[in-house]
Amino acid sequence: MKIAVLAGGISTEREISIVSGTGVCKALRDRGHSAVLIDIFCGDPSLDAEEVFARKDYDPDRAAAFIRSFDDRLEEMKTRRGFFGPGVLELCRAADAVFLALHGQNGEDGKVQAALELMGIPYTGCGYLGSALAMDKELSKQLFRENGVPTPPGIVVRENEKVLSAAENGVGVPCVVKPSRGGSSVGVSIARTQEEYDAALREGFKYEPVLLVEKYISGREFSVGIVDGEVYPVIEIAPIQGFYDYHNKYAAGSTVETCPADLSPALTKKMQDAALAAWHALRLESYARIDVMMDEQENVYCLEANTLPGMTPTSLLPQEAAALGIGFGELCEKLIQVSLAGGEKA
Ligand SMILES: Nc1ncnc2c1ncn2[C@@H]1O[C@H](COP(=O)(O)OP(=O)(O)O)[C@@H](O)[C@H]1O
Ligand SMILES: [Mg+2]
Repeated sequence: MKIAVLAGGISTEREISIVSGTGVCKALRDRGHSAVLIDIFCGDPSLDAEEVFARKDYDPDRAAAFIRSFDDRLEEMKTRRGFFGPGVLELCRAADAVFLALHGQNGEDGKVQAALELMGIPYTGCGYLGSALAMDKELSKQLFRENGVPTPPGIVVRENEKVLSAAENGVGVPCVVKPSRGGSSVGVSIARTQEEYDAALREGFKYEPVLLVEKYISGREFSVGIVDGEVYPVIEIAPIQGFYDYHNKYAAGSTVETCPADLSPALTKKMQDAALAAWHALRLESYARIDVMMDEQENVYCLEANTLPGMTPTSLLPQEAAALGIGFGELCEKLIQVSLAGGEKA
């Protein structure tokens, strides 16, 4: 198959997306596909789509280096034009499928999905609606509540409204403050006192005018992948220090990840059922990964859904697939297969 792997972009998760995209591109080429990596925003003006798909000596690492050469020029490029970079849509149109190795805003939030949908270009992952709902933690929480999906109690705080103290807001401390549409734990803080709560709000508002304040769940953290409605083994994430913040997500060796998680069959099922309920509540399809916490009383809480979860060979979903005997290349192929099978997405 001819596959255009879209990576990069302008979100805070640009670098991890380049790593995901390079890994996916290599794995697909190893399995005999003609996969080509391109930065969705920076593009490549000199790219000839037919020629590049036919090229036998194509080197994904060179493509990744070319993408990174734009890293320092993004701000200046943003002011000049629309989102899709030169050559990107031409490459997508010439491909049999587009693999979205994007994360965060303008990639995971449904906009790219809607654009590709309208152009009739098949792409991997959830449709635009599920992507948009999952990106918005405020709306996700409302849908979780309405659909009986267990989720931590929480409220929304808006920058332009009167802010109540932690004692008055119904959540209290300890609590977690996070930007409603963020990702990779950027702008997320745990507050144990009113002073820390004030500081957490100031920090969160640097990123977004809408913050979610949630009851802090003290316990263990997990994630559950779902591919085409099939729930994958649960993975446990145990940071060696602190919580699963940006550093612990991406610095090698800072987190112990165990898959399948050390849980009784009953607790595993409880967690997988909660993840599947979240998947349905948010209208997800193709594949996604749901973040879950469990407190000391073994209550399970869904935090959020990731519609384009990390896809480096050591990311969480690939580890869950490996526990089922599905290798990284095979998983990449499977994600394309299940995404294309459904036809038009919601
Ligand atoms: N209610 C909570 N209780 C305890 N820890 C939390 C809670 N909400 C988030 N966290 C911690 O913050 C991390 C990031 O939160 P999450 O909701 O998954 O947002 P994102 O991953 O999109 O930044 C989680 O992986 C978890 O470690
Ligand atoms: Mg998360």
